[in-house]
Amino acid sequence: MKINVTEGFSDRLSTLVIPMFKQQSLQGWLNTLSELLNIPNELLLSDFKANHKEVFTTYGNGQRIILLGLGDKILQHRIIEAFRSLSHFTKGKNFTNIGIDIINFQFEDIEQDLLPFFAEMISSGLVLGQYDIQLLKSKSETDHTIETVEILAFDEDGTIQKAIHQGLETALTQREVMTLLNLPASHKTALDLADWVQKSAKKHGYKADIFEKEEIEKLGLNALLAVNRGSEIPPRFIVMEHQPKDGEALKTIGLVGKGVTYDTGGLNIKTQGMHFMKSDMGGAAAVFGTMEIAAKLDLPFHIIGIVPTTDNCVDAKSIKPGDVIDSYSGLTIEVMDTDAEGRLIMADALSYLVKHYQPDVLMDLATLTGSSVRTLGYYAGAMFTQNEDLANEIYLAGQRSGERVWRLPMWEEYGNNLKSDIADVRNYGMTPLAGASEAAKFLENFVDNHPAYVHIDIAGVAYNDTAYAKHKIATAFGIRLLMDYMRQLELEMSTADN
Ligand code: BES
Ligand code: ZN
Ligand code: ZN
Repeated sequence: MKINVTEGFSDRLSTLVIPMFKQQSLQGWLNTLSELLNIPNELLLSDFKANHKEVFTTYGNGQRIILLGLGDKILQHRIIEAFRSLSHFTKGKNFTNIGIDIINFQFEDIEQDLLPFFAEMISSGLVLGQYDIQLLKSKSETDHTIETVEILAFDEDGTIQKAIHQGLETALTQREVMTLLNLPASHKTALDLADWVQKSAKKHGYKADIFEKEEIEKLGLNALLAVNRGSEIPPRFIVMEHQPKDGEALKTIGLVGKGVTYDTGGLNIKTQGMHFMKSDMGGAAAVFGTMEIAAKLDLPFHIIGIVPTTDNCVDAKSIKPGDVIDSYSGLTIEVMDTDAEGRLIMADALSYLVKHYQPDVLMDLATLTGSSVRTLGYYAGAMFTQNEDLANEIYLAGQRSGERVWRLPMWEEYGNNLKSDIADVRNYGMTPLAGASEAAKFLENFVDNHPAYVHIDIAGVAYNDTAYAKHKIATAFGIRLLMDYMRQLELEMSTADN
């Protein structure tokens, strides 16, 4: 899809889209439009309220004209969703060339010029709406149609075109990692994830070191190896690094993503919901996506992304409940439940990252517990941190981006049941209570008292119901959250300098 700013539409457009907020001046705009389009005023006013995602189609000037409702809030994801849904709706229809009139698209009471922001979200939404979930159909019906988009605006200094580029590239990467997540275990192994990263790194210019099994053994990533014992596929330990091309990095940010390509539970085999477990690499997907976009957009941060990846399967060699395993940190772990495998591989990746990179901020994303889903449902990730500032910053990034997080406690008591008699720590407290907080306490053992560590449990939000498919699909949750967090950080650090 090509999206360009234009000061005058070309005459090949089949469709003109006019996005509108539900606000006081709406009536005035509709009055003007009713005259231009020769539609009786009362009819237009009664048929179009500018509710979020509302679509009103009419014809005039030999074109299709679409009024697109944006609702009454200016939020990134609301604009994205409105355009995503419009773009999805164009499937199989003649929407090859569309124009979008954003000239009169300012929201009341907002002074600054929001056009670049709008253009970015519009671009993301249009690109996401063309995502095709039919990955493995024998006959795919690829009938998405939008090829060129002209956005009507004055763009003297190129800011809008730059924003379009950002929105488009972000969404393209989101789509890539959605595919990784949507593919089933039959089509996705640790090796496939590593291949994907290698290609992406080469294409977009970031560093990727892929550690194979022998190196993993040499390094002593023993918790990852323990989980991998039940698998016929060797593990991979993926280390990615982005450095800004010019100038010094504002901060070093460490990211860890859980890359379990399929979670059967191991010998503690799952009795429920196992078919969802191809999505147990949602944390990895978020980290892959963030690394790729960081490189594409050359973000001013030094970012290290680590993904430990394996499946969690059943075999004669599988770890058994009660086994004691070693870990990279040196701590021994009593494995009470083999289905609490994510925290094992995350433990190794977190201690490796802290030891080798000493990041200013350390974050992890993982589809870690059913408990977080039972607590927050499908509507927010669960955030755990002892750092108040970080909690606040990430919370706000979640509110702005629509990838919401809600903080849950990490009080000392939640770690009480993780004490082991035989080993340093147990991976599960053997009670059904507060499992998400307990998991966070487990991970905390492996971050060497890092002062700015945040764990985000995305079990309920990485793979979710949407308006775009019959069943749950990948959401790419985490990418927009992290992008927004970093953008805000950049903004604050650059204003602090001035
Ligand atoms: N991958 C699961 C968590 C999960 C649950 C992700 C639902 C997505 C949707 C994780 O490895 C797991 O099995 N956790 C167990 C931990 C328990 C055995 C301590 C859980 O939450 O039940
Ligand atoms: Zn599990
Ligand atoms: Zn898991």
